[in-house]
Amino acid sequence: MILNLSEHLARKNLIDGIMTDIPIINIKETGTTELRHACEDLGCFFVKQERLDSLLPGVIEEAGRFFSLSESTKQRFRATPESYFVGYRPNGSEKNMHGTQDEHCDQFKIGMMKENSKAFKSIEKQLESPAFNTQKTQHYWERSSQCADLILKKLEASLGFEEHYFDPFFNRPLHQLGLNYYPGISEKLAAPQDEHSLSAHVDLSLFTLISQDQPGLQIRIKDQIFTEVGPREDAVLVLVGEYLHRWSGGRYKAPMHRVSTSEQLRYSVVYKHRPNYDAVIRAPYRSANSGEVRVDPYHTGKAYDRKIYTIMGAADLLPNET
Ligand SMILES: [Fe+2]
Repeated sequence: MILNLSEHLARKNLIDGIMTDIPIINIKETGTTELRHACEDLGCFFVKQERLDSLLPGVIEEAGRFFSLSESTKQRFRATPESYFVGYRPNGSEKNMHGTQDEHCDQFKIGMMKENSKAFKSIEKQLESPAFNTQKTQHYWERSSQCADLILKKLEASLGFEEHYFDPFFNRPLHQLGLNYYPGISEKLAAPQDEHSLSAHVDLSLFTLISQDQPGLQIRIKDQIFTEVGPREDAVLVLVGEYLHRWSGGRYKAPMHRVSTSEQLRYSVVYKHRPNYDAVIRAPYRSANSGEVRVDPYHTGKAYDRKIYTIMGAADLLPNET
């Protein structure tokens, strides 16, 4: 049986339609207790952030201009192993975590480069297309990074770490900003996996800042159900990633999340706060399977390499040492 899109969504709402209250935090004023509870219970929270919100429409406009350029122009900015996969990732070029299914989203990534990367070294070079000539994306990138630094200081305190604990891990960081465009889909869905334009995954970041102009983001709350988390005009969503989960010894949840397929076209802007390539996490970690507590050094850069080469269909090019 093939259901049309609205029938699919109606059926899904019966299963997944419970909204959970996600706290809104003023990062400058809040105490660390509220932050710790949000990270331990949900793995996400909103941060009041008017300056990012006011820049968002301009960023979406620039993203729209880029994605409407000719394919040959966009290909000049194509994400490759040489660019450390920064740049343009056309719809279908990225796969799911297992490398088996296409993700249905056009993406443009800018970010800090690994030392030996050969292409698009500077953010200015990455934003060289005239689509970005109003510099809203550049400003959004800078503002996101500042906002994330503040959040990290608060998280550091919330974990009981000494002040400046994270500093040595962030002197050559690999932060990244992604502009994501999900074309609206009006035709009938052929298979259950088509209900999701982006399949369920956990981010390889300390944490991720997410803004969206339409609903579509679903987060798996309390390891149980996927919950729709709609956009807010006054706040950006902060999602705990795998690195913070491990650095907290497993206390802070890194929730699975995905994007549902919709009839509406949708943009999201996603900033990932990531440490130096060589940052190694050595926190005691409780295995989800066995419950055993161990200290397995976790090399963040190599873990990211394994993921990005796999999802970009380039696993056979993965550097040997990873
Ligand atoms: Fe994600």
